[in-house]
Formats: sequence, structure tokens, C-alpha cells
Amino acid sequence: MQAIEKFAPGVILHGGDYNPDQWLDRPDILHEDIRFMKEAHINEATLGVFAWSMEEPEEGRYDLDWLEEVVNRLYEHGIRTILATPTGAMPHWLTEKYPEVLKVDEHGTRRMHGQRHNFCPTSPVLRKKMQGINEALSERLGKHPGVIAWHLSNEYGGDADAETFIGCHCPACEDAFRTFLKDRYGTLEDLNRAWWTGFWSNRFTSWDQIHCPGAGSEHTMHGIKLDYRRFVSAQMLDFAKAERDAVRRYSDRPVCTNMMGTFDPLDYFKWARELDFVSVDCYPMWHSQEDDTGIAQGASLYYALTRSLKRMPFLLMESVVSSVNWTPINIIKRPGMHMLSSMQAVASGADSVQYFQFRASRGSSEKFHGAVIGHLNGNDTRVFREVKALGERLEKLSGLVLGTVNRPQAAILYDWENIWAVNDAQALVMPFDFNRRFLDYYGALWDRGIDTDLIDMDSDLAPYRLVLAPFNYMYRKGWTEKVRRFVERGGVFVTTCWSGIVDDSDLCFEKEHPLQDLLGIRPEEVDVSPGYMENTISWGEDSFPVRDLCGVIHTVGADVLAVYGKNYYKGMPALTVHAYGRGKALYAAAEGKQDFVGRLVDEALCEAGLRCPIEVELVHGVTVSCREGDGRRLFFVQNFNNRPTEVVFRKPCRNAESGEKVEGPVLLDPYECRILEERMA
Ligand code: GAL
Repeated sequence: MQAIEKFAPGVILHGGDYNPDQWLDRPDILHEDIRFMKEAHINEATLGVFAWSMEEPEEGRYDLDWLEEVVNRLYEHGIRTILATPTGAMPHWLTEKYPEVLKVDEHGTRRMHGQRHNFCPTSPVLRKKMQGINEALSERLGKHPGVIAWHLSNEYGGDADAETFIGCHCPACEDAFRTFLKDRYGTLEDLNRAWWTGFWSNRFTSWDQIHCPGAGSEHTMHGIKLDYRRFVSAQMLDFAKAERDAVRRYSDRPVCTNMMGTFDPLDYFKWARELDFVSVDCYPMWHSQEDDTGIAQGASLYYALTRSLKRMPFLLMESVVSSVNWTPINIIKRPGMHMLSSMQAVASGADSVQYFQFRASRGSSEKFHGAVIGHLNGNDTRVFREVKALGERLEKLSGLVLGTVNRPQAAILYDWENIWAVNDAQALVMPFDFNRRFLDYYGALWDRGIDTDLIDMDSDLAPYRLVLAPFNYMYRKGWTEKVRRFVERGGVFVTTCWSGIVDDSDLCFEKEHPLQDLLGIRPEEVDVSPGYMENTISWGEDSFPVRDLCGVIHTVGADVLAVYGKNYYKGMPALTVHAYGRGKALYAAAEGKQDFVGRLVDEALCEAGLRCPIEVELVHGVTVSCREGDGRRLFFVQNFNNRPTEVVFRKPCRNAESGEKVEGPVLLDPYECRILEERMA
């Protein structure tokens, strides 16, 4: 990956969170760790994630000798460091002396010391203290040859106790929220209009009347909630930028933070612009269902989203080698799944496989969380052997994979503001659960071996031939023009009912659907079809059950591909297609279940002239991702079935690792990832 390549040339990183700070009185352990790391082909350690109290034991007294010693020792053994800033957890001296650094919850109560991710991002004292420690780290280690990148804080916003919003409700945050609103609206009059405050006597006559919404206060006015979500993401980002600027004071190393995929409160598209590269933490619940396919699709979605944020490779900053310890049932990965799940990340654009955690702590809440080295048996464990096997493979793959990228020609809209608004709408099905519905679409593309980017409404559509926008409830400024241009130039656009309903203030559009001309339809109402009056969609000879939503529409130029099978709108259009410019727009008025979505995706792919980049007959549980560059294409064929599974390759290919020819029917082992190669002309 470009940003990091300069400081860690030629290696896929393999490593993760390492906490020598918990073992400073155990030189034997620190010594043994290096030996085990080398044996497991671990070449990276992420240091200092929650080490503030060790790095600054008392206010203003920095103790970084131990850290420098560890960085030195790792470096001598060829292990690079990604250095974290420690703000994920605050030291006692800080909260004791300056309680205002602790966040205030939605009921107006200030938190007490404890846990992590519970700081107020606005607090001037916290920012000053953060700047102190970050600059000290930067000055001491920011140019150390072993330090390759910065990792800001940890999972910003990951506050386990937050009720509705992760935001802080202290007076400083309320003031910052008002400033944010003044910048956005200029006048109270415009704000009142945007928030439709004539409803329920909400008209504001002074900025001071505006408070952060929350469980204990306003939580029915959509406009304020939407803006508050925007503010919470922006304010946390503002804190992250201050952290970034502090580490940049003495250091030229690239900066990232560990994101959490589809984490609802933070609009990562906006965050990515402020970072040198992106990274993600991903903990799929493997084996929590009999069939791992849905889980694999969900993990793939996380990686695709992370890759799409900057349209470049990323780091898998955290994953687990066996099981986590924070779900009701914590199942360990079955043998082979560690290799496959790690290769899945690489296949999707990761240039690293990193873990939480290298060595398990002996005490406290994560002592039973999976680790490369557990409490017993050192390196003589199944987990260690699987980590080592992966390390060996990654080392060999580095030359092949680094420098290649995924270049999808299909994209699917994942826009945070749209999701906030649609999930908040009081209508139809509640909770709406955008992500669950979205996974049907993403999963259908995954099943067909189509790498797909996730985009927001600010993204450039030029690289794509197909854009899907399911449940695109909000149309932000500029979106309709962008979609029109895309289709005019030959793109295929697919959207669904419950799209084009509100503008970016969450105010309903009037008169007609904003893309009526492009879609060739006129929506009238949306029905919900619960199980006892389930509707069907008739498409040619086939009939598909409806999931929930049935949009009742009329055509104004579009052709009808499918119709409803029942109810007062029986025979009316359930799916339409409309030619526009050189392209086409499909509108799924009915929300079908997975098999319908699959057929719709087939139709759209066919219209867009897209197919799996390798000629293979895929079967359930098997997918392909493609990375290309350097004159070659790499196909990662992944079998998520726990049984041998046959796939048929219709064109001869070469196994990129063994050099063997692959053609015709091939039996993939359970959880196998086979990497095939094709030279590009
Ligand atoms: C992550 C977090 C790590 C660790 C891990 C456990 O969300 O960043 O610090 O707590 O979860 O799975």
C-alpha cells in the first residue's frame, strides 16, 4: 500500500496489538514474545493502544524509555511498529483532576471514571493533555526506523454504554453543536424551516434553546437528530484531526485509525479524507450459524467498504485468531477458518492481517479473548500453528499481492446520512434495519463473484458500469444530477421503493419523484406485506415471495418486467426498466427476498455487461475476488463451506502459488482459498 510502502517495503504485514506494557516486570515473557513472533512470521506489532498511564504516569511526566526499548528490540528482530496514541483509555490522574474530560450521557449525567472510549471530544483540557502525550511520542519515536505508521486512539466512538447517540452532552459540546448549526444554516429562520419546527410547537427563537437530542430530551424531531448525528461524527473527527496534527508535529509517518466497518455513528467516508490510509477491525461471528455464507458476505462487506473509502488497499488492523469473549456464545474458529478468513481480507484489498491480540493478558476483562499466545502451552497450540502457517503463506505472497488492487466496476450505495435518515423514519417497518436489507443486495453480488465498491453520494460514479442504490430514501444535493449523468453515459442504475423520499434536511419531496424522468415511474404508496398476507412477484414463469415492502407505482415510460401476484394492486408493476440516454434504470417497487434480489442482480449485471472476472461456475458458499496490477490478475477463490466443494473452471488458469494448471472440475477443500493467476495482455 502506497502510504506505508515507503516505511515497510515489500511485506504484507502480519502482527497486531501487543501489550508489553502489561509485562514490564517479566523480561522472560518479553524475550519469549520475540522468539514466538519470529517463529510465527509476525513482522509487525501495534504498540501503546491503551498505554497512557504507563507513558505518562503523572501529569506532564512522560516515561517513554520502556517503549523505546521495546521498539528497538522489535526492530532489531525485523519487526516493525505501528504506534498508537493512547487516548482510547484515560489515566486516573486525568479524570481525577479534570472531571470535565469525562463525557456526559443523554440524561445529563457525567460519567465516572472507568472503561474506555468515554471522553468528551470537545473538552479543551483533554485536547491539551492529548497534545502533550502525542507530541512527546512523536518527538521521541516519530522518526524511529522501526516505526512505520500512526494508529490514532482506538475505535473512536466505541462507547459500549451509549444509549442512542455516542455524542457527549456537556455544555461545551452543546455550544459546539450550536456553532456547527450556525455554520450550516446561518440563520435561525433557515434552521426552523429545515427542521419543520412548526410541528409540535418547536419553533426556536434563540440558539440557546437548542440542546443535544437524546433519550432524556428531544428524540422525535428528525431534523435535529440528523444534524446531531452529523455533528457527532464531525466533532469526533475534529478530535481525531487534532490527534493527527499532534503526531505529525515531529513525524512524517502515515496516519490511520482503526475503523469499525459499518459502525453507525461515524461517517467514515468523511473520516477517510483526513487520514493517510484506512484500516479496519473485523470480528465476524464464524460458525454462529450452520452455514457460514451469510457471515462471509457480512465480513466481505466490511472489507469492501473499507477499501472503497479511499479506493485503495487497507490494513486489517484487528481480527481474532480463535474466539472473541464479548458475544453470548463465543465459538472458536474451526481448523482452517483462520487461514480462509484472513485470506478473505487480503482478497478484498487488505495488505495486512493483524490481530487483537498477540499475548493474552492474565487479568481483567479480555483475559479470555483469543490471542496468538494464550495462558498455557506457549507455542505448542493449534492456534499458534495456524497463525504460523498463515504467516508463512503471507510472506510468500507478498511479492505477488503487494501493488495489486481490486478494481470493481459495480458499486452499491452505502451513504451514512441516508442510513441515519431511513432508519429514523417513522413509517412502514420499524426498526427499518437498513443493513440487513442491504446485505441481501451485497450478498447477491458476492454469490456471483462480483467485487463491488461501496460508495456514498459524494463518490465519483465514473469508474462503474453498474450502480445499485437500494432504499435510497434521502437524495442529497447533487445526487440526482450525478445519477442522470451516469445513466446518460451508458451506466445501469438500480433502485428500489422507499427511495427519493426526502432531501438532505429530511424534508419530503413534493409533487413528483425527483428521478421520475429517469426511472419512468410514478410511485403512489408503499404497502407492508406481513407473513399472513404475503404478496408475490410474478416475473415471467417465476413467482417470488415479497419480504416486507410493496411499492404501488404507475409507469410513465418504463417497461414492466414483473408484476404483483396478489392484493388490490395485483397485476401492477413490481419491477420496471427504463431506457435513459445510453443506459438503463431499473426500479424494484417490490422488496423481494434473496432469490428475487439474486434474479434482479443477474438482470442488472446482464444489462451492464458485467460478470465474474474468471470463467467459473460458482456454487453456494464459494466466491471469487480479484486483485490486479503489475501485469497480472489474481483470483482468490474462497470456499466457505465446511465440506469439499466442487467448482468448474471453464478456462484454463494457473495456480499462482504452485504453478499448477487448473481447469475443469476442481474439488476445493473445506475452507480452502485457492489463488489463481492470469497474465494480462
Ligand atoms: C476491539 C478493540 C480491542 C479489543 C477487541 C476485542 O473492538 O479495539 O481493543 O477490545 O475489540 O475483540
